[in-house]
Amino acid sequence: MTGAALRHFLDLDQIGPDVLRNLTDRGLARKKARKDSPLGAVDHDAPLKGHVVALIFEKPSTRTRVSFDVGIRQLGGDTMTLSAADMQLGRGETISDTARVLSRYVDAIMLRSTDHTHLLEWAAASTIPVINGLTNKTHPCQLMADIMTFEEYKGPIKDRIVAWSGDGNNVAASWIQAAVQFEFELRLACPPGFEPDAGILDWAKQKEGRVQVVEDPRIAVDNADCVITDTWVSMGDKDPDARRKALSPYQVNASLMACAAKDAIFLHCLPAHRGEEVTDEVIDGPQSAVLDEAENRLHAQKAILVWCLLGREE
Ligand code: CP
Ligand code: NVA
Repeated sequence: MTGAALRHFLDLDQIGPDVLRNLTDRGLARKKARKDSPLGAVDHDAPLKGHVVALIFEKPSTRTRVSFDVGIRQLGGDTMTLSAADMQLGRGETISDTARVLSRYVDAIMLRSTDHTHLLEWAAASTIPVINGLTNKTHPCQLMADIMTFEEYKGPIKDRIVAWSGDGNNVAASWIQAAVQFEFELRLACPPGFEPDAGILDWAKQKEGRVQVVEDPRIAVDNADCVITDTWVSMGDKDPDARRKALSPYQVNASLMACAAKDAIFLHCLPAHRGEEVTDEVIDGPQSAVLDEAENRLHAQKAILVWCLLGREE
């Protein structure tokens, strides 16, 4: 980058609401512009021509890995996918040394990390943009795709009602940050002990966000425009049986969906554990937008990449 300040994409609370709004709009514009292009064709402006992005994974991924890889290629750039375990990191080299070395080779880093502190270490040491591709704490790129999906189906999300039923996990945390930045009402139903990150809830409260945590999923979902859930056992979670037992009353099934607005949509970041957090009839039903949601990872992230690498919102 020349002349512009370094732009990481770490979390939704770190970026101004106007920029976030502009990024979802730009992602949608890129999606529309590609409407008649064959898969794999480079976007007309090829803004990342000559740029290389390293995609680094400390844990598994399907959507994040493929959507970033394809998105960067559609932007005219190149990628390399690295497993942290196969790098010298796995033998004790520090994140700081690795980040400073990679900053001499590539133009940006997308990191999926087991521990949020790793992401912060990468960002502190890198002299190139770092993008959060999920940590144990948050998943901001997912949210940019989710906002885009909501708005494609239902129009502006401002002042609408969104309900979460299930574990107060990393995706829920980014929904809380999104509720503040995009100004919608978010109700989360979580069992005791599975509430969202207290620091993020405090931040939302300070910002006067309309975020409420309740125990009863029917109260959360009542008349909502969108119902969301996620796996009961996230990557790295311990004690899966106890989690399934505590979270089973929070399953999104036809009976819970019936409490939402008639035209409510269903979202899930995927991968889904069918028969656990969601039933087949909901995820495969007419209200489900999960495949568009997955596709929108590609389009939303392309806008994020252009903003991070080129220091512009286009
Ligand atoms: N939603 C999501 O991030 O999926 P992956 O874990 O497959 O990347
Ligand atoms: N909460 C899930 C999201 C996967 C995309 C996890 O962290 O495993």
